[in-house]
Amino acid sequence: MITFRRLTQADLPRLRQFWKDNWGDEFIVAHGVIYHPDGLDGFIALEDHEWVGEITYNFSPEGCEIVSLDSTREGQGLGTKLIDTVIEEARKKNCRRVFLITTNDNLNALGFYQKRGFELVGINRGAVNESRKIKPGIPMIGMNNIPLRDEIELEILLKV
Ligand SMILES: CC(C)(COP(=O)(O)OP(=O)(O)OC[C@H]1O[C@@H](n2cnc3c(N)ncnc32)[C@H](O)[C@@H]1OP(=O)(O)O)[C@@H](O)C(=O)NCCC(=O)NCCS
Repeated sequence: MITFRRLTQADLPRLRQFWKDNWGDEFIVAHGVIYHPDGLDGFIALEDHEWVGEITYNFSPEGCEIVSLDSTREGQGLGTKLIDTVIEEARKKNCRRVFLITTNDNLNALGFYQKRGFELVGINRGAVNESRKIKPGIPMIGMNNIPLRDEIELEILLKV
């Protein structure tokens, strides 16, 4: 059975490793900002003691930004549950906007978020090329064999 719980300080080493395994390094770069696990809020999904999903997010004057989202048990509702949990957190804080950055190659994520009410609000052409200067491990060719170069911003506006 999959259970969910809030991320704690004690989870940070495990989260760093999870990011390393899934995103190539212990930090994430989006819109020119370097995000480390420290200081982010989040939730993790566990199957017994194994991590099978995680989501991290950050509140700022721009709204609630989903910084990372991973599910290693795809197609079982895990990703949906994780974003719903963050949307609920945003609502509790009277935050009216949840947003995130994905990349031009991630067709799965673009579909996934749009089916859950997120809308495309911006494209930052070549932004990944800039991120690559900070994080050289970002591949030139991304998911679906697509050249990885642009950031795409999606948002969902919440009624408060
Ligand atoms: C994007 C991602 C988080 C989605 O996670 P997920 O756990 O597969 O998400 P869900 O299971 O909630 O939804 C995926 C699909 O499974 C379907 N599904 C959910 N529960 C299901 C069930 N019990 N039986 C059958 N299908 C189910 C959903 O309907 C959904 O399909 P849809 O998008 O066409 O509606 C995951 O694919 C992932 O980790 N991708 C790699 C990392 C990534 O791209 N992260 C986002 C970066 S911005």
